[in-house]
Amino acid sequence: MEYCVTTKKDDSWYIGTDHFDLFKDDKTEAIMFQGNGYLGIRATAEERNLNERRNMFVAGTFDAFNDEVTELPNLPDLLNMGIQINQQIFSLSMGLIENYHKHLNLKNGELIRSFDWLINGNRISFKFSRFVSMSDVHLLVSKLEISSDQSDLKITLNSGIDGQYSNSGTQHLVEGDKRLFEGKILQLQEKTQQSNIGLAFNVLQKAYINKEQLDVKPNIDMGRRQIFDEYNVDLNKGDKFTFVKYANVYTTIDKDIEHETISVASMDAIKKSSMMTYKELLDKSTNAWNINVWQRSLISIDSDDVDPQVAINFARYQLAANTPKDPRMNIAAKGLTGEGYKGHTFWDTEIYMLPYFTFTMPEMARNLLEYRYLGLDGARRKARDNDYWGAQFPWESAWSTDGEMTPPWGSADIVTGKPMRILSGSLEQHITSDVVIAVMQYLAITEDQKFAEDMGYEIILDAAKFWASRLDWDPEYHKFMIDDVIGPDEYKEHIDNNAFTNYTAFWCIQKAIAVVELLRNSNSEIYDRLNSKLHLDDAYQDWISKVDLIFLPKPNKSEVIPEDDSYLQKKIVDTNQYQSDGGHAKIFKDYNIQQINDLQVTKQADVLLLIFLFDDLFGDDIKLANWNYYEPKTTHDSSLSFSTHSILASDLNLADTAYEYFEKACEIDLGSGVGKSVQGLHMASIGGIWNMVVEGFGGVRVLDGQLRIEPHLPSKWNSLHFEINWHQSLLKIDVYKDTFQISVLGDAITFVNHNELYHVAANSKIVIPISVEVNVED
Ligand code: BGC
Repeated sequence: MEYCVTTKKDDSWYIGTDHFDLFKDDKTEAIMFQGNGYLGIRATAEERNLNERRNMFVAGTFDAFNDEVTELPNLPDLLNMGIQINQQIFSLSMGLIENYHKHLNLKNGELIRSFDWLINGNRISFKFSRFVSMSDVHLLVSKLEISSDQSDLKITLNSGIDGQYSNSGTQHLVEGDKRLFEGKILQLQEKTQQSNIGLAFNVLQKAYINKEQLDVKPNIDMGRRQIFDEYNVDLNKGDKFTFVKYANVYTTIDKDIEHETISVASMDAIKKSSMMTYKELLDKSTNAWNINVWQRSLISIDSDDVDPQVAINFARYQLAANTPKDPRMNIAAKGLTGEGYKGHTFWDTEIYMLPYFTFTMPEMARNLLEYRYLGLDGARRKARDNDYWGAQFPWESAWSTDGEMTPPWGSADIVTGKPMRILSGSLEQHITSDVVIAVMQYLAITEDQKFAEDMGYEIILDAAKFWASRLDWDPEYHKFMIDDVIGPDEYKEHIDNNAFTNYTAFWCIQKAIAVVELLRNSNSEIYDRLNSKLHLDDAYQDWISKVDLIFLPKPNKSEVIPEDDSYLQKKIVDTNQYQSDGGHAKIFKDYNIQQINDLQVTKQADVLLLIFLFDDLFGDDIKLANWNYYEPKTTHDSSLSFSTHSILASDLNLADTAYEYFEKACEIDLGSGVGKSVQGLHMASIGGIWNMVVEGFGGVRVLDGQLRIEPHLPSKWNSLHFEINWHQSLLKIDVYKDTFQISVLGDAITFVNHNELYHVAANSKIVIPISVEVNVED
């Protein structure tokens, strides 16, 4: 694999770089992002640079501007340090840099940058270290160390809170109070201009020479939206200057505030934090990473190449750093790592990231699904506005209750030069099924009956009501069609009977029928409650009368399932030249979206995603025929595409192809192309890394509520080891070349392997031979 960062053979938690490249720095900022799900900051330098994006976001603080949809505001910069040495402004663009190292420790999120700065005949050593705390989500701590063995230094340091940032020019924050408290705490208060969310930022800083804390009173410098301490320090040759910056952020939507105001709460907190050293606070945070993340999602790859393990560590790190624990918020398509997609949540969570959480940290998965439950009112509003019933989930969503947030306009059309209408908000309706797919998967894996009764059933039932009202009766064919949609393949707009949409709508209605029957038979109390809220007696009749008349695109003579009614009649072009290299979609250089609509070109897995998710509905011949048909026509212009292809190729025993797609998926963000990661990481693709390893190579799947395990160990790996939760048990799965072993901790389980049902008794093990035919590849 070719990564944009260096890795170390003996340390799979290390990603780093040994030279400063201004051109690529904005990508490294995204890759080495630090966060804890509550807040996130990019790995920008402390001093300002050209080609940087100084971004800090706090999950859920959405704000709108004029008529625009809401977005996460870019918050004041708490990391800045303006440094002058002997009256020379410190910048990596001046003088010479030697021994440059920047690396992120994925194990505890500590970022370290060190180098020697050669300027005016001096060699000055710098080391910057920092982390966002996992144990106190409001806190970030940074440390600067400066020394020179060659001469005395006169250091001037300006450091504090800088609120002069915006979202690419849009300023969401109104300046509030700005003060120095108790001679040492810098505080800036702001609020979002439309959603009225209050924010308090605090900084408390300490300076040391060698181990001795300096008793200096810094000058205070207050500008518009800024408050800084200025330190002037004389440092003798051979001594070390150390500066520690404690910073925090609190908001009025936080649930964990005990004080009356966030101003007081945040100030108290920063005082408490500053009583501990950088190292003590880092140790606490490291411990929280171990307990909350690493001990919960064990996975190790034994291979001569460390990069696959780095990828899986990177994926778990970013998933933890970008996932809010508060159910009123969800994971954004780009997490908290950049302005791209405005902090909005898509189906990316349900289809690409939830499997990881459901299998390893069910309580996190539950929060992410509760977000959809809280979003039911917005989804009902959307359905009503479109003259449908039930709940139509938003394609893009932000604050849980706000409903549809897809912006109406996108970038310019290459042919007309005019902005393109974004239709996914109204036409990409499969999101409603995707939510149900995730709920069903969560219920199958966890058996969380309380969630089902409190929230899950209601989501399933209201989604089915939407689909039943969405169906279009075709008297000629005597079938219900679903006309005028966009499927997962966003290169096909206004199409009829997208296979993914129709099959999943049909499946949702089937599941809702089953839920009604189950509740009527076994839980009349819950049934009555839901019936009076959702009029289930009528809905059930409606579903029964419609479900078997829903048109499901069937495989044609060549076993190919038509992606939609017209796809197979469209012109075929050579898509080789348009295959994604992780940058901008190349096909748009030659065609606009209307023209692509008329070609057999697919943006991302669509029919193939259907086959992957509903594996049990389609036989092996159909799987292979569709793979052979659609794979060459797919450009993978969405980063969501590679992981599905890798898993499906594993299922089809196309071992080399599966591994090639695995590598491509890992390279989406970690790869050397500058690409789109600059605007933020691709969280669905990152979730896909775990999916490829566990669901693809590990062969784990939940099909119709049943666990199936059929591993396909890549030839480059010696073994693979991971843990997943299944019902009330923890399964430890060890995959070797010829066998795999499942050790059950907890209750007995059953699983399927190559159509055979296996039982494993409580707290025992089973070893099964791996018999895989490898399909010969060209
Ligand atoms: C993809 C969508 C995805 C969105 C956000 C688009 O390019 O086509 O499937 O949900 O990006 O990641």
